[in-house]
Amino acid sequence: MQWFAGKKVFITGGSKGIGRAAALQLARSGASVVVAARGAEALDETVAAMKAAGGAGTFGRVSVDVTDAAAVEAAAAEALELLGGIDVLICNAGYAWPGLVEDAPLESFEAMMRTNYLGHVHTVRAFLPRFLEQGHGHINLVSSVIGFLPVYGYAAYSASKFAIVGFAGALDLEVKPRGIQVSLFYPPTTDTPGLAKENEIKPPVAWAIEHDSAFSATYTPEQVADHLLRHIASGRYQATHGFPNQLIYHFNRLAPGIARWMNHDEVAKAMKKVAAGKVHAPSRGGGPK
Ligand SMILES: NC(=O)c1ccc[n+]([C@@H]2O[C@H](COP(=O)([O-])OP(=O)(O)OC[C@H]3O[C@@H](n4cnc5c(N)ncnc54)[C@H](OP(=O)(O)O)[C@@H]3O)[C@@H](O)[C@H]2O)c1
Repeated sequence: MQWFAGKKVFITGGSKGIGRAAALQLARSGASVVVAARGAEALDETVAAMKAAGGAGTFGRVSVDVTDAAAVEAAAAEALELLGGIDVLICNAGYAWPGLVEDAPLESFEAMMRTNYLGHVHTVRAFLPRFLEQGHGHINLVSSVIGFLPVYGYAAYSASKFAIVGFAGALDLEVKPRGIQVSLFYPPTTDTPGLAKENEIKPPVAWAIEHDSAFSATYTPEQVADHLLRHIASGRYQATHGFPNQLIYHFNRLAPGIARWMNHDEVAKAMKKVAAGKVHAPSRGGGPK
């Protein structure tokens, strides 16, 4: 992607899944990339893969937990040093821990707010002084389809992803007049290590909804990362991937009452199936995330 040639990019959650696929594509496009995550092994493997991808950029990694604001500040300083500046920040680290409100541990509500929402806040705040000083740059925040569409069994995750949307909107108002572009991306269900873990504990009704939904589709990390990067390069504010999700996004906004009724109808049918013992959780796949 020509737009990224020579750009300096920092990606949280860049060692696996969508973030890793984006890092590799950026490397091929001639960008310099620093990936951030907690696990050193996957980070090293991603840096090696970026080098093998053959771009002309500089590649590096920082090991950091995005829930720790002070550690993120230190990581940002290290990344600015490695890259020699910053053009594009992609806040992508996050995960889903599904469960019903009545029996999900309180820890899941707190933990996802800390990683999914506050992780983005910490990362943005760590790089913002540099962006404002230079008066240009792009900040992309990764939410989820569940950041605009509530889904059964995902209350805690949904809240953390809706929070990102509110944060992005206000951030955009503050920094756009000062030359900084903000964008939002809502990934769909994507076949990543994160999805595999989430599927292990997905509630049966959520499985049944996905199984029966005409809108259910699972995409590869490469497809989703490609759209994420094209979206950033386009300069537009928000995007989701896949025609069904685009349709759901617009329908949900234009006819929220009908969308809610349809959502309830799907849940009611799924509950009947589960009660009748007709649900066999597939090993992969699913509806919007
Ligand atoms: N896959 C989907 O179906 C889907 C759908 C909608 C939205 N999304 C969103 O898209 C983003 C990427 O998802 P994915 O499926 O590609 O995830 P993934 O395969 O689980 O990879 C997550 C990445 O984030 C890092 N990470 C997780 N917690 C972190 C923390 N506290 N601090 C620093 N790094 C952390 C992980 O590395 P370490 O574990 O080593 O730290 C890894 O590099 C997430 O925000 C997710 O919510 C995914």
